[in-house]
Amino acid sequence: MSSDVIDRATAHFGKLVEEQLARVLRMKSAEPPLDFATLQPIVVGICFGDGIGPIISKQTMRVLDNLLADEIRSGKVELRTIEGLTIENRVTHLKAIPDDVLAELKACHVILKAPTTTPEKGGPYPNIESANVAMRRALDLYANVRPIKVPKEGIDWVIFRENTEGAYILGSKGIAVTDDLAFDFTAVTRQGCERIIRMAFEYARTNGITKVTVVTKANVIKTTDGLFLEVAEQIGKEYPGITWDAWYIDIMTAKLIDPKRRTQFRVMVMPNLYGDILSDEAAEFQGGVGTAGSANIGSRYAMFEAIHGSAPRMIDEGRGDYADPASLMRAGSMLLRHIGLVAQADRLDMALDVCTMLEKKVQITGRTSGATAQAFSDYVMATLADPTLPARHAALLG
Ligand code: IPM
Ligand code: MG
Repeated sequence: MSSDVIDRATAHFGKLVEEQLARVLRMKSAEPPLDFATLQPIVVGICFGDGIGPIISKQTMRVLDNLLADEIRSGKVELRTIEGLTIENRVTHLKAIPDDVLAELKACHVILKAPTTTPEKGGPYPNIESANVAMRRALDLYANVRPIKVPKEGIDWVIFRENTEGAYILGSKGIAVTDDLAFDFTAVTRQGCERIIRMAFEYARTNGITKVTVVTKANVIKTTDGLFLEVAEQIGKEYPGITWDAWYIDIMTAKLIDPKRRTQFRVMVMPNLYGDILSDEAAEFQGGVGTAGSANIGSRYAMFEAIHGSAPRMIDEGRGDYADPASLMRAGSMLLRHIGLVAQADRLDMALDVCTMLEKKVQITGRTSGATAQAFSDYVMATLADPTLPARHAALLG
């Protein structure tokens, strides 16, 4: 093999190492979190995304405009539409997030993001990176928090997925050394492991939960997952009231299906790729990825999104209007909670519980025989307007 090829690969790797060492330094001097109680206005940026994104965004905006009417009027909250995070614009600039769009995002405090299309190999678009992944990295949104609840089955999980490192860290920076040899890279940092694991333990402590489950594949992926587990051991010692256990991702995906075992899990924390997979599986118990919201939280910024993709197939097949806006609405309630509007978030959560699980009078299936996004959102609006909503919710829970 010519030494040229090896030199090129080595130089490529050297540059990646340099970048990551610089990132470690940045993590060591992270900005303090925002104080939403004193901030005015709280600027909420809204990106409509691609595919079914604009359809479900429109319905989610209706709900937020209604819930936040007082705060918008008094100037406490500003809802700001951010154009330009579309596949067309991203392809024009050949960037996952064009520079001017990133500047607009950075001028907001929190972001609600509808799904964006990620170009795939062999598809019609050039190979630009996922806008989600790029945004998580650009705004250092290190924690992906995905709650899943099925009260009737005793399921009450919160998945803390590391969001900026692991298998995702180097995005499109893998290297095809020759036609026959390809590398992608996985990397974690001690700081990156610490902050996500600490957030999971803090969440458990604040919410009176006494168990945290750490998921890795440290028996095989020894160096990076090994570091994740080592850091969990250290942090676990700081929380004497919380017991923690370690599971491997393969048996964990199996045990999520076991009705006896699965109700024992409460807070789970894991590296990026495992969290991606496990959270889709977990959401399926609740009614599918269309029903779950996802929070991407960093120390300065936070972004809230649906956990599903932009579903181009639904648009191609003319079913876009039948897309389920519930996941983006859940993301909206997580956003409200994050900025301190807890009463509004509780109300929206109750309405969504009623409309998606407990009562389900308007059935959305994603097919044209089901309800439209508009009809579902009419149902949510009517439920929000019901003055007896807390009692109705409690009665349905039984
Ligand atoms: C998610 C999605 C994204 C991910 C995709 C769209 C890049 O699956 O938010 O879980 O892999 O993180
Ligand atoms: Mg995913």
